[in-house]
Amino acid sequence: MNKDVEKILFTEGDIAREVKKCAAWLDERYKNTTPLAVSVLKGSVIFFCDLVRAMNTPVQMDFMTITSYGASSQSSGVPKIVMDLAAPVEGRDVLLVEDIVDSGHTLVKMRSLLEGRGAKSFTVVTLLDKPSRRQVDVKADYSCFEVGNEFIVGYGLDYAQQYRNLPYVGILKRSVYEK
Ligand code: PRP
Repeated sequence: MNKDVEKILFTEGDIAREVKKCAAWLDERYKNTTPLAVSVLKGSVIFFCDLVRAMNTPVQMDFMTITSYGASSQSSGVPKIVMDLAAPVEGRDVLLVEDIVDSGHTLVKMRSLLEGRGAKSFTVVTLLDKPSRRQVDVKADYSCFEVGNEFIVGYGLDYAQQYRNLPYVGILKRSVYEK
């Protein structure tokens, strides 16, 4: 896997530091409540597991699989729910955990879906923000890192379902996806 990476953007150490800061921000925000932490699968799962373990606040956890890329390197702009949440969200403080906000379509869809189901509050944290690619006016409440318009993989992010288990975030060599 490492040979396909052009450049490491964020090391394990960089990520661990930012995860800790994000967890502290969430602990402050959720002082008097037990949020329902939702991992948007599959990309966010690694960030999610590290983040909830860095928090002191008790959380409940749920998972939703939503996909907009398929095997392509471009977002389709039409996110599809592959697996829904198990828990009802009515009256809950929902903490949505994303790996990346790119076009923004996934976030818009999740927000309208969960607010429509009666969530009491909706907070979004993302590991990565790619504002240069935004198609809809939406922003996470907290982002750990901003990235440019490169194709990035690792720490949950994939290309054609590979590279998710790299412990760092790096730029994928063009030769890999332009084959
Ligand atoms: C990625 C990522 C976000 C979404 C962001 O998911 O995990 O959920 O795209 O893109 P957007 O802002 O353009 O909507 P992907 O479809 O690649 O599925 P995955 O999480 O299983 O990798």
